[in-house]
Amino acid sequence: MLLGVNIDHVATLRNVRQAKEPDVIKAALICENLGVAGITTHLREDRRHIKDDDVIKLKTILHTRLNLEMAMTDEMQKIALELKPAACCIVPEKRQELTTEGGLDVAGQQKRVIEFVKPLKDAGIEVSMFIDPDAKQIEASHIAGAPFIELHTGAYAEAFGTNRENTEFLKLKSAAVFAQSLNLKVNAGHGLDYENVKRMHEIPNLVELNIGHSIIARAVFVGLEKAVKEMKDLIA
Ligand code: PXP
Repeated sequence: MLLGVNIDHVATLRNVRQAKEPDVIKAALICENLGVAGITTHLREDRRHIKDDDVIKLKTILHTRLNLEMAMTDEMQKIALELKPAACCIVPEKRQELTTEGGLDVAGQQKRVIEFVKPLKDAGIEVSMFIDPDAKQIEASHIAGAPFIELHTGAYAEAFGTNRENTEFLKLKSAAVFAQSLNLKVNAGHGLDYENVKRMHEIPNLVELNIGHSIIARAVFVGLEKAVKEMKDLIA
């Protein structure tokens, strides 16, 4: 499996003091030098962590793939079409949430998703739908024409180590198998850490894991390089 490092929380820390450090670009370059498959950032409507300047610099400086997570808004679509990141992951977004809660409801807004995805695909951007492990959402993502889905692993991560772990894990596994039967490529992410990530090996043919919080949290103690290397080794 490939590792996409989400560096949003480097920006969170920087923004707390409205400072220049820690530098998001430097963090991305450390990850790139370690051979990660991509850098992931979520440009939120409220710009609480990553900002427009950051994504522009990342796109200019990085050689590795930039995966832009974004809400399904006209503003974000325009930014993506100008920026042309390698990949866009379409996520639901609520202003008050601490982090992305739940997957995108693709089935409930099928027509709008089709219209939103098409120009991105036509621009050569790899589009991925961030969805819960739910057959209805997988079918709708397939109809929407997205080549990738990213399964929301949050419920599994929360259940990890409890008697609900297996139930949540099996939902992810059967969702991945079903999606692959429709020729969708499957990524996963959210809430994955150095322990719960190990079971991702039991899910066949996952392409990429996008992991942020646990890596940046560990980096505080051991440094970013070691934190990324350890995660990369765990999922290789
Ligand atoms: N994938 C998606 C689509 C996300 O929205 C996030 C959080 O921004 C992540 C992965 C990474 O989640 P975490 O920070 O919990 O590792």
